[in-house]
Formats: sequence, structure tokens, C-alpha cells
Amino acid sequence: MDVTESIRYIGTDDKTIDLFESQYVVPKGISYNSYLIIDDKTAVMDTVDLRCTDEWLNNLKDKLNGREVDYLVVSHVEPDHSGSILRLIQLYPNITLVGNQKTFGMLKQFFKVDLENCTLEVKEGDTLSLGSHTLKFYMAPMVHWPEVMVTYEQAEKVLFSADGFGKFGALSEEDDDWACEARRYYFNIVGKYGAPVQGLLKKLSGLDFKYICPLHGPVLKDNLSYYINLYDTWSSYKPETKGVFIAYASIHGNTAKAAEKFAELLRANGEEKVVVTDLARADIAEAVEDAFRYDRMALAAASYDAGVFPCMQEFLNHLQAKAYQKRKVALIENGSWAPTAAKAMRGMLEAMKEMEIIEPVVTIKSSLDDNSGKQLEELAKSVIK
Ligand code: FEO
Repeated sequence: MDVTESIRYIGTDDKTIDLFESQYVVPKGISYNSYLIIDDKTAVMDTVDLRCTDEWLNNLKDKLNGREVDYLVVSHVEPDHSGSILRLIQLYPNITLVGNQKTFGMLKQFFKVDLENCTLEVKEGDTLSLGSHTLKFYMAPMVHWPEVMVTYEQAEKVLFSADGFGKFGALSEEDDDWACEARRYYFNIVGKYGAPVQGLLKKLSGLDFKYICPLHGPVLKDNLSYYINLYDTWSSYKPETKGVFIAYASIHGNTAKAAEKFAELLRANGEEKVVVTDLARADIAEAVEDAFRYDRMALAAASYDAGVFPCMQEFLNHLQAKAYQKRKVALIENGSWAPTAAKAMRGMLEAMKEMEIIEPVVTIKSSLDDNSGKQLEELAKSVIK
């Protein structure tokens, strides 16, 4: 798993965490990546979550082979990467922490640690020589948090990309489809910050990479343009895949039936990719991912308390928080006496940027009948158009 002979992997897998960041299910766990560069000076690139400190220190000592740690580069202070810093400082009291203007204040906030005389503050474009390896630092504010920076190692052309290009899933788990869990990770964790990601991609566009080393997920080595192009698509809020994502919020099953009927109509009319999700039971992070992935979305929801059924409201709140934009959306509402779901959904969607509601909006009274069935057929044609 080492990157090169002198850039070694010392990270850890966490396969017992119940929820990453206390909100994301990670059925295949997560990796906290950390790297050791061995040269005249040694540099550790980030630490790991406190949950894995002992294992990580064993990895580090093993690869250090008796040497000291000269530098710790802190790309990101979030505790899944900074959690083991105090233990590292205790073990290697002569270490120098490398960070930017925002890094050390934040570290003090988290760990109440005195960092006098053990820090090196770097800014955009600064370099640090380790011997034959040279680290060049690029600030990446809000590519998750404000203090984030990425590091380019010039000799072996390695980008240490912080959370960028990360994914859910432990490294020991088989995973042939990088994009699936990388997309769920991106849109839920970094998705709101498309503009900063675009800025970073532009900044790095002149560099020649052979490896991208993120803080989660595998080291990327081959066909790097595939990953970079996906990040460009995702961060510019462009759809990745032509298709319709149908998300429904059904109380007693009638709205679910309408959503399934709508999927059938779309397929019958030639739509090749149609994905249906039950918001009451689905992983909401996966639903957010799919909403961003496809170029069109259809929302089918029951009315509730003069608004919309709560799991749909929650889903739309998530989309709004992640800066969902530039999409076409079809609306199907259900209501037994005073349907209100469409109005509530429309209001939330219209507060987002560059959204288009596909007409007609379909209203179902309790369960599908001839009239609402015809509306559904008309809507399917409009969605395909
Ligand atoms: Fe993996 Fe933003 O921490």
C-alpha cells in the first residue's frame, strides 16, 4: 500500500465506527490515511482519528525504523485527522508542526495544547525541503474546512489532497467502483463548497501528478484525469449521468405506488436510467448523492400537517444545505382533503439556484385514479422532453 519507496502508507482502517461524523452510515468502514516521507528529514502527512491511534503509532514506528519524526504536516484539523497529534508530540518532542495561519489556532481550540516553538507556518506557494523531496503548499480553504491546505511533493509528483478525492470504505474492503462511495462522500461532506473546489482544481491544473493521496480511501495512481474530471463535474454542479431520480415520501403506500407507476411510464417512454428511492427508509446521504448525480429528479410526496411529509422535507433541507442547483424537477403530490405537498416542495426548490419545475404538477387524491393517471402520463412525457 506504500505510495513509493520513500513515501509510505501508515494509515488505519476503522471498520467498527457506527456513523462517520456521527451521521453517515459506512457499511464498509472508513480509512484514516496518513503517510510518512522518509528522506534526510522525515515528515508525517497528517495523523488519524483517536479511535485508531495505537495501531497508527505502530505503523509509524515500524516504517520509521528507529528514526525520529522531524515534521508533521497538518493538512486539516478535523479530529478524524488531528486526533492523534498530542500522542505524536509526546513521543517526538522535537517535532515541528507545519500548518498555515489558521491551523494552529484551531489546534489549540481542540486540544488546549501549547504549541510555542514547535510550529512552522506556511503560506501559499511556500516550500519545505526534506532532502531530495520538496513539499510545496497550496491553501485550499473550505475544501471542507477553512484551514485546509494540500501539499505537492515535487520530486515524485505526489499530491496530498486532504479530504479531496476521499471516499467512504476501509482499504481492506473490496471495492471496484471508486465513484460510488466517493460521490456519496463528496456531495454530503464537501458538496456545499463547489466554488472552493473549482478554485483548487484551477490552481492545481498546471501540476503534473503521478499520485493523489487523499485522507480517506485509496491512493489514486492510474488514469488520474478520470478522477479529476469527475471532481470538475461534481464541483460545478453539473449532472454526471442522464437519468431520472425519483424520490418518494409515502405514508400508507399510495404515493409509493404512484412513484413506481411514474418510473414505469418513464421507462415505457424510452428513459433508460430511472432510479426510485423510498425516502422514509433510504440512506438520506445516498439520496442526496443521487439527486446530484442525475440530470432530472421527480419528487412524490404525501401532504402532512399542511405541508409535506417529514422525510421529504428533511431530504429537501439536506439538498438546500448542500447547495443543490441547476436541475429540473417534477412534482407529484398526494392529499386526501387539502393537498399541500407540492406547494411546500416548490417553495423549497424555488429557494435554490437555477431550478426548473417541470409541468404539470400532478395531484393525487388519496390514490391514483384515471384523472391523476393521465396527469402522470403527461408529466412523464414532459420529463422525457
Ligand atoms: Fe476527513 Fe474533513 O475530515
